[in-house]
Amino acid sequence: MKKSELKELMNEMTLAEKIGQLVQVTPDFFNQSGEITGPAAEWQLSENKLFQIGSVLGTHTAEQVATIQKSYLEESRLKIPLLFMADVIHGYETIFPIPLALASSFSSELTEEVARLSALEATRAGVHVTFSPMADHVMDSRWGRVLESNGEDPILSAELTRGYVRGYQGTDLETETERLAACVKHFIGYGAVQGGRDYNHVDLSPIELYQNYLPAFQAAIEEGVKLVMTSFNPINGQLMSLNRPLIKETLRQELGFNGVVISDWNALEELLAHRVVGDKQQAAAEAFEAGTDIDMMSDCYINHLAEYSDLDSHALDEAVYRILKLKNELGLFENPFRGIQEEAKPIEGALRIAVKEAAMKSFVLLKNDSDTLPIRTQQQVFLLGPKASSKDILGAWSWIGKTEQAIDLAEGLTEQLPHLTVGAAESWAEPSEAEYVKLSEEAKASDVVILALGESSEETGEAASKAEICLPEYQIKLVKRMAAANKNLVVVLFNGRPLDLTAIEPYAKSIVEVWFPGSEGGRAIAETLIGQHNPEGKLPMSFPRAVGQLPFSYQAYSTGRPLTEQNQQEKYVSKYMDVGNEPLYPFGHGLSYSKLSIEAITQSAEVLTEDEPLTIQATVRNDSAQAGNTTVQLYVEDQVSELVRPVKELKSWQQLTVAGNTTAQCTFTLTAADLGYVHSNLTRYPDLGKFRFFVGLDSQNTLTGQFELCEKSEGL
Ligand code: BGC
Repeated sequence: MKKSELKELMNEMTLAEKIGQLVQVTPDFFNQSGEITGPAAEWQLSENKLFQIGSVLGTHTAEQVATIQKSYLEESRLKIPLLFMADVIHGYETIFPIPLALASSFSSELTEEVARLSALEATRAGVHVTFSPMADHVMDSRWGRVLESNGEDPILSAELTRGYVRGYQGTDLETETERLAACVKHFIGYGAVQGGRDYNHVDLSPIELYQNYLPAFQAAIEEGVKLVMTSFNPINGQLMSLNRPLIKETLRQELGFNGVVISDWNALEELLAHRVVGDKQQAAAEAFEAGTDIDMMSDCYINHLAEYSDLDSHALDEAVYRILKLKNELGLFENPFRGIQEEAKPIEGALRIAVKEAAMKSFVLLKNDSDTLPIRTQQQVFLLGPKASSKDILGAWSWIGKTEQAIDLAEGLTEQLPHLTVGAAESWAEPSEAEYVKLSEEAKASDVVILALGESSEETGEAASKAEICLPEYQIKLVKRMAAANKNLVVVLFNGRPLDLTAIEPYAKSIVEVWFPGSEGGRAIAETLIGQHNPEGKLPMSFPRAVGQLPFSYQAYSTGRPLTEQNQQEKYVSKYMDVGNEPLYPFGHGLSYSKLSIEAITQSAEVLTEDEPLTIQATVRNDSAQAGNTTVQLYVEDQVSELVRPVKELKSWQQLTVAGNTTAQCTFTLTAADLGYVHSNLTRYPDLGKFRFFVGLDSQNTLTGQFELCEKSEGL
């Protein structure tokens, strides 16, 4: 449809029809045969109002979409097609590893491919828009939603977010009908909920906001993301659904976003519970004034926006136009059944291969003493633990995912190991003493014991905050009992957040973090455990030593009394009395079966200027026969800065394959812009002067050098 036709359509719309476009409901509103309950009953929507609504969220099948769209187009006066949105977070039916796992790949090529393939499946089910990527900056693994995030580094998160947006949206939504429009969320600050408790209060300084929270959203906007979802939380007392300065000034003017702004689920009605509005009419009026275009699943707009006597008709037209424009960009006026194909070519086979590859790239080998891994296929292996034969490996967002089709670890290992015994202790209960005796005997008779431990998907994701992030007592006990029976103990961890592994770490020879690995999890893990695949993932979030270290980031700020190797015994330094300051496993950590290390670093100059970037070369050495992949990381520290700054910040990373018993090199280019940070005037620019840089295979063990940022090249 041409722009002029869209405008003509808008001229025909009544006030009620315009407001209807701003409303989003669930499919059950359209399925009102039988007793009507829940919000659909409370809202008391007339048929007329229902067939003015603009969008639907959370359909399950192509048939459901087709039925709703068809009846809507028959009943509605102007026949403006409905927009269908859904949470396609890491796959639709075929489930990829959770986003935090994908972030362990440090690869935006991977997030792009995962998003492309997820869109392929979701569009066939009639979905037009996904509520993904989640670009929230996170530092607190008590918050269950860290599993949907890209981890604790803002630059890494921004890069991975770019990949997701590119993969979902492609280059032209109208012609590429197997792509989805993306909705980046949650704008903004949601990851900073106090105490890691979901839906809690947020208080953030503007500098933190600009430095760490905005970059991933900015990246999504630069990639052309079509929608932004506001978050549930307030920022400095102002709820995001009402936050006019952050929506209208920061998001729209500064970041240049001109797409659709949607609230989170029922967030407008929740303004009443926050006690910042007195009734739904005030909620509707203030949210609209602040810049919320779509009201997701509350009746504030549909039942109360028209009552607002100062409703600005021009602003209303702009909001409606943004929604109609999105429908038009998706080609819905020409084809309201976009993506739904009568005879679709099966894609599941190809998807499952991609899922397995993505899973393998996301596993992180946390520990591997005495080369316990890889397992030799002739070894006698005993597998047990609550996750050994569990298909609960898809993660909290796999609402359409087919759990029964997931490959669990026992199934994966059975395909590879002729001498495998799978033990009991599969349930989420503690073995009895008699069972323990049997398990210990089996463990003693084996060469290697694999313990599959972790969290259930219910314990992770939205509304799954935890005050303790250790494994449950019975799992810790299982580790100790099995370690007493067999020292070759391998722990495979399925979880959605960095856990506190301090209690089990000394007992396990090897620990492999597999997150929630998705539909092909068991196979991908089995191939990794036997060395057909060499682990290469790196932690996108630090694993703390104790929950009391949270919130935590490797980007610790300088303090006036830093803890050093020399002053460990002093009292008046910045430290805990009971645990160290460092995490158990730092950001960027991840081992390989190959023996990889940074052998040397060289730099092109001692000085960096605006016209002359610095190049830094790193040589990585492999002291083993097996080729390995790794991610080489470059960090920087500003020696003297206007504001207190982190002692280490990731600036760049490179992925490298190092053949057996050789070295390989990679080159980083560091520009003046890379050294910029948000100053007290909220602008990003670098400080002239001295810097240190660090190159490592994680954020802690690094080789270091220095350079100076000068205004001009010497001789100019
Ligand atoms: C979540 C969003 C999600 C939305 C729609 C909310 O509860 O916070 O992330 O996209 O529901 O399902």
